[in-house]
Amino acid sequence: MAYEQPSLPYAENALEPHISANTISFHYGKHHATYVKKFNDLVQGTPYDDQGIEEVVKAVAGDSSKTGIFNNGAQAWNHSFYWNCLSPDGGGKPSGALADKIDQDFGSYDAFRDELANAAATQFGSGWAWLVMDNGSLKVIKTANAQTPLTEGMTPILTIDVWEHAYYLDYQNRRPDYVASLIDNLVNWEFATANFEAAQA
Ligand code: FE2
Repeated sequence: MAYEQPSLPYAENALEPHISANTISFHYGKHHATYVKKFNDLVQGTPYDDQGIEEVVKAVAGDSSKTGIFNNGAQAWNHSFYWNCLSPDGGGKPSGALADKIDQDFGSYDAFRDELANAAATQFGSGWAWLVMDNGSLKVIKTANAQTPLTEGMTPILTIDVWEHAYYLDYQNRRPDYVASLIDNLVNWEFATANFEAAQA
């Protein structure tokens, strides 16, 4: 069964002025849609066609004969996750148990924010910055290209897409400005909290 690209959880212009409708239009409507289409084309008629996308991504990770399936499948999943990490009502600081855990594992929200922003800014080339749960601890990691914490036994809590297509139309080469604007104004802490709570279960 083909993987269906999830609907964007807000209007294309809902994240302005931090991310423009033009960026979302290309990013969701072209880049993400293409990953989804290529993934579906590659798995059609194979045993992977009957599996969930997370299962397929985990199964083909590291298999050099399945690079196309991995890259397109992981990018399809990563982007579906990314859209949910953003909200027009987002930003600010988390609350409740997730805020407490951030204080416990990073020392403070500000220390966490610095670490996430730094990971996003310093990922060399295309990739992603993540907040993950790993063996009971919150960690910030970065991954290259399509790589995803799903294949590392970690639970994604939050991500920032740092491929140029995520910010170049709005920020050109100023990736740190995109990252700061996203963290301070768009992070969907409700979604992150739900992921954090699911990771405890
Ligand atoms: Fe992207």
